Amino acid sequence: MIRVDQLCFSYTKHPFIEDVSFGVESGEIFGFLGPSGAGKSTLQKILTGLLSRYTGTVRVNGEEAGHHGEKFYEQIGVDFEFPSLYEKLTARENLRFFASLYHKHREIDTLLKSVDLLSDADKKVSDFSKGMKARLNFIKALLHDPQILFLDEPTSGLDPSNARVMKDIILEEKSKGKTIILTTHNMYDATELCDRVAFIVDGKIRALDTPRSLIMRRGASSIAYTYIENGSEHRAEVPLGSTSEDETLCRLIRGNKLLSIHSEEPTLNDVFVEITGRQLQ
Ligand SMILES: Nc1ncnc2c1ncn2[C@@H]1O[C@H](COP(=O)(O)OP(=O)(O)O)[C@@H](O)[C@H]1O
Ligand SMILES: [Mg+2]
Repeated sequence: MIRVDQLCFSYTKHPFIEDVSFGVESGEIFGFLGPSGAGKSTLQKILTGLLSRYTGTVRVNGEEAGHHGEKFYEQIGVDFEFPSLYEKLTARENLRFFASLYHKHREIDTLLKSVDLLSDADKKVSDFSKGMKARLNFIKALLHDPQILFLDEPTSGLDPSNARVMKDIILEEKSKGKTIILTTHNMYDATELCDRVAFIVDGKIRALDTPRSLIMRRGASSIAYTYIENGSEHRAEVPLGSTSEDETLCRLIRGNKLLSIHSEEPTLNDVFVEITGRQLQ
């Protein structure tokens, strides 16, 4: 669905996006994960044809993003960081207006209901909270039932229950066969949603794989346990693959002397730091 080869781009004289290549299969959720300023939004803008002064090739749904034809946006839905809505119009009027730009569109009330905005449909967007605007901007991207969705930090700034609603809709779109490219600096979202993740730092892809494979690269998870001995509490750790060789642990288990035990899974953030030397947030 998307094929990017040797992409280079810069806002200034200094190179920024350098030699980026990757592909996204139809029906896949593909994530750009990286800290603020990494170039995630820039990549989204190039893929959606908003920045065209790049070198290399950026094929999206069979067209070159930098000089696409008229039909390009019929198959693409875009939800960028800053909502692009008409503040003086109501939520429903906004959706009606944007719907009129397309040949076909989904039912407006169904979309409003899906993000719990139906009862606010006739309020002016200027009276909406940041979270309500984010939800409205999100369904605006779904309005024309596009084949490819570009979502820039879709859950950013939302409370956990609204973030959940958003993530469920994203997964539902995937189940309908849509291709989704999202950016995030949230490792939990990336781990949960993405089939594959690209680690982005300073305009470059530093790793690209499934979240599971990236996490496995860090090696085995470990077990941490605590116990009391000689009147004081101790803590120890042992790799999951060698618990039976840990004599202290075996002795504690045999004597029912463990105070606590739990597994320590590496997170995508741990892997990110290890590979890139940078924190996500
Ligand atoms: N229009 C612009 N002109 C010049 N520099 C920009 C512009 N937009 C973004 N940048 C710079 O490009 C870098 C990447 O920005 P961005 O793609 O928004 O990162 P991210 O989305 O990963 O936080 C930042 O250093 C940012 O300041
Ligand atoms: Mg951004």
